[in-house]
Amino acid sequence: MKPMPLVAGNWKMNGLRASQAELDALKHMIAEAPPQCEVLICPPFTLVGAFSAASGETIGIGGQDCHAKVSGAHTGDISAAMLKDCGAKYVIVGHSERRADHGETDDMVRAKAEAVLAEGLVAIVCAGEREDVRDAGKACEHVLSQLASSVPEGATPENTVIAYEPVWAIGTGRTPTTGNLEEMHGAIRAALVERFGAAGNGFRILYGGSVNAGNARDLMAVANVDGGLVGGASLKAADFNGIMDAYRG
Ligand code: 13P
Repeated sequence: MKPMPLVAGNWKMNGLRASQAELDALKHMIAEAPPQCEVLICPPFTLVGAFSAASGETIGIGGQDCHAKVSGAHTGDISAAMLKDCGAKYVIVGHSERRADHGETDDMVRAKAEAVLAEGLVAIVCAGEREDVRDAGKACEHVLSQLASSVPEGATPENTVIAYEPVWAIGTGRTPTTGNLEEMHGAIRAALVERFGAAGNGFRILYGGSVNAGNARDLMAVANVDGGLVGGASLKAADFNGIMDAYRG
């Protein structure tokens, strides 16, 4: 059976308390025309509590990162337990911006994902190649290697979501061809089945990188694309809601 798609907004380092107006607007748009997908917003840590309290049943709230430990002397860090305590249901781990800005390795990402699973939350594990890696013809090999090391042993379709985000497509307005996307998502699916058996068919594999209301329908229609991870176009309710049209009749 095909998994229920997930459309997730990653607000990155954007959003103040006043931005809750966008959440409220999105809630109304979804109530008026419910899409056939799960909807998630991952705001900055400062808004996770307020958004969880306000989002209602139709929109899930998640964090953008967490520490691998539950608590301790780690100034400035946030644990999965803390996110859960604020109402988060999901945590993104291993986003390419974390890997680049904070030197996160596959082993660190796996430890974070394990911490997410230990709290009973869902980990969204990200992977994606830089442009030079794609140009060298090694995109699939690179992403499969990242995922082999970043996805924990205890991953199941219920507790883990995969997100393929080519670095060169993030915030650039560029996207893979549907052919390249089909090849990558097919390769990720095959690797999941090889590692987890039939359960591998149940994992959701999201695509992220310059998804917008204009291209979502085509991108989301590609085989083994089970939703999207959206940056810039998730900040405004109207833009994000337009992407959801890919999952409305
Ligand atoms: P954009 O949608 O802004 O390209 O960002 C994608 C992304 O990094 C989501 O995690």
